[in-house]
Amino acid sequence: MKYTRSDFPKDFLFGVATSAYQIEGHAQGGAGETHWDTFAATPGNVVRNENGDLACDHLHRFEEDLDFVREGGFDCYRFSTSWARVLPEGRGQVNQAGLDFYDRLTDALLERRIRPCATLYHWELPSALADLGGWRNPDIASWFADFTEVIMGRIGDRMFSVAPINEPWCVSWLSHFEGHHAPGLRDIRAAARSMHHVLLAHGRAIQAMRGLGMSNLGAVFNLEWSEPADDSAEAQKAAALYDGIYNRFFLGGVFKKAYPDNVLEGLEPHLPTGWQDDFDTIAEPVDWCGLNYYTRKLIAPDEGAWPHLKDVPGPLPKTQMGWEIDPAALTRFLVRTAQEYTGNLPILVTENGLASPERHNDKDRIDYLNQHLSAVQDAVVQGVPVNGYFIWSLLDNYEWAFGYEKRFGLIDVDFDTLKRSPKASFFALKSALTDGVASS
Ligand code: FCB
Repeated sequence: MKYTRSDFPKDFLFGVATSAYQIEGHAQGGAGETHWDTFAATPGNVVRNENGDLACDHLHRFEEDLDFVREGGFDCYRFSTSWARVLPEGRGQVNQAGLDFYDRLTDALLERRIRPCATLYHWELPSALADLGGWRNPDIASWFADFTEVIMGRIGDRMFSVAPINEPWCVSWLSHFEGHHAPGLRDIRAAARSMHHVLLAHGRAIQAMRGLGMSNLGAVFNLEWSEPADDSAEAQKAAALYDGIYNRFFLGGVFKKAYPDNVLEGLEPHLPTGWQDDFDTIAEPVDWCGLNYYTRKLIAPDEGAWPHLKDVPGPLPKTQMGWEIDPAALTRFLVRTAQEYTGNLPILVTENGLASPERHNDKDRIDYLNQHLSAVQDAVVQGVPVNGYFIWSLLDNYEWAFGYEKRFGLIDVDFDTLKRSPKASFFALKSALTDGVASS
C-alpha cells in the first residue's frame, strides 16, 4: 500500500465489513425464511439462482474469519444481524440459537480486541413480514423497533457502534422501483412508501437503542455521484434529480427534516398520508454518519414516465461490476456531506472496495484502495472530520443478484471447499496497518 496507519489522524479507525445473509449460511441455525430466499428462488433474479443457504458458512467458521481481522491489524469489524435469524417470523418467538450466535460473535471480537460495529438490517427481511407488505407497511417501523430491542437487549452492552439500516436507497428504490433486489417490485407507490418507512424505521430503532442506554449510534447511506452526460440544461436537471433520489432524499430526511423538492415533484402523491409529521422521529440525532461509496454515474434525460432519466456508459476505467472508478467523487461527497448535512459530526467511510476476478494477486484492488484512501486524505486536509475507513469486504461472498460470481473479498473463498486464502491485498493492508508490529 501507498499508505500506513501513521499517514492518517491519530484515532482514525480501519475496519472491514460484511453482512449476515452474504456470509453466514442462512439455511442453518434455525433462521426463518426471508424475501431474499424467495427472490433468489425465482428464475431470472439471481445469477445461476444462487442463494445464501450456505454462503461462506461463517456461522460455523466465524472464529477463523475473525482471526483474519485481527491478523490484518484492523480496529473494527462491521457486521450485520439477521432479523430472521433472531426472530424467524419477524415478530414473536425468538430463536435462541440465533441470539446465542451473535453473543458468541461479539465476545469473539472483544477477545481479539476488535471493536464490534453492528448494522441491524442488511436486507434479508423475514418472509412473514414481507407477506404483510414489508417496507410498504407503516407498521414496519414498530416491528423493527421491537427487533432492535430484542437483539440489542442481548448484545448492545458490548457494541462499539451501531447503525440501524444499511443503505436506505437499496432497501427502497433499488428493490421497489428498479426491482433489482428483493422483493423485486417495480412500482412507484411501493418505492415512495418504502423510502419513507425505511427512514422512519431508522429513527424508531435509534430511539429504541437510546432507551437501552446505548451510544455511538449512526446511519449508513450509500452515495453515488451523478454527473450530467453533457452540458445541456436537460442533462443537468436529470443529474440533479438522480442525486435527489439517490443521495439527498435520505440525507435530507435524517439531517434536515426535509425531502428535496425535485424528488417530491414525482413522489409526493405516493407518500403515505401524514409523512411530514414523521420527521422528528426520522431525524432523531445520531452520533456519526457512515457513507458507502463505490462509483459515479453519467446521467442523461430519457423519454417515458417520471423520473425521465437514464444512466449512460462513461469513459472511466471500470471494475468487474462494470462500475466506473472515480475516487475524486468520494472526496466531493465527504466535503459536501459535511458542508451541507452533518457539520462537525464524525463521518466514516463504512464501505468501499472493488470486485475483481483476480483471486490471488489482486493488484487492481490494492490500486483501488490506494486511490480511495488518497481521496479520504484529500477530504481530511480540507477539514472534513472523517475518522474511519472500512473495506468491503473481508471475504468473497454472496453478492446478491450477482450470486457468487463477483468477488469483493480481501480473503478468497473457494465455494466448493470453503477454504479461505488471503489475497495480496490482505497482506498489503496488514503491513500498512501493523507498521511491522506483530499483531499477536
Ligand atoms: C453495497 C452493499 C454490500 C455489497 C456491496 C458491493 O451496496 O452494502 O452488501 O453488495 O455493495
